[in-house]
Amino acid sequence: MKVAVIYASTTGNTEAMANAVLDSVKAAGAEVVFAKADNADSNTVLGCDVLFLGSPAMGAEVLEDSMEEFFSGIEGSLSGKKVAVFGSYDWGDGQWIRDWVDRIGAAGAVSVAEPFAVNLTPSDADIAKCKEWSVSAIK
Ligand SMILES: Cc1cc2nc3c(=O)[nH]c(=O)nc-3n(C[C@H](O)[C@H](O)[C@H](O)COP(=O)(O)O)c2cc1C
Repeated sequence: MKVAVIYASTTGNTEAMANAVLDSVKAAGAEVVFAKADNADSNTVLGCDVLFLGSPAMGAEVLEDSMEEFFSGIEGSLSGKKVAVFGSYDWGDGQWIRDWVDRIGAAGAVSVAEPFAVNLTPSDADIAKCKEWSVSAIK
């Protein structure tokens, strides 16, 4: 199985989650394409079986700019794709990630897991949960 883990992160919080996803899906035997959104190749990502996409809440409950650019570039090609999203936030209530899940559904993709959101810096327990979450998403 080929898995893409593509993320944006401004202060490392979403990046820590991306690394946890990388470690756990690799350990589960997946071949992984791992990249930051501003450095990710759309065609390679769309060739994967499952896409993990990570972004912090930015602006006013929107995706970080580089993820917005990457995601809007693949949004029209997501029909039937298996997708799971994750990210870090601070003062909001998770609206940014609910809106993201809605866009994924509207694009005809399949959400293979509930979105995984962490307030600010993930704790060790959050990282452990993130690992379990990502492994269950590729089963
Ligand atoms: C410019 C800016 C805008 C932000 N907008 C939101 C927001 O709309 N909602 C929210 O819950 N957190 C918001 N945050 C907080 C970030 O989502 C939070 O600090 C997160 O942990 C950053 O994750 P990262 O280190 O992966 O970039 C914002 C932070 C910045 C700097």
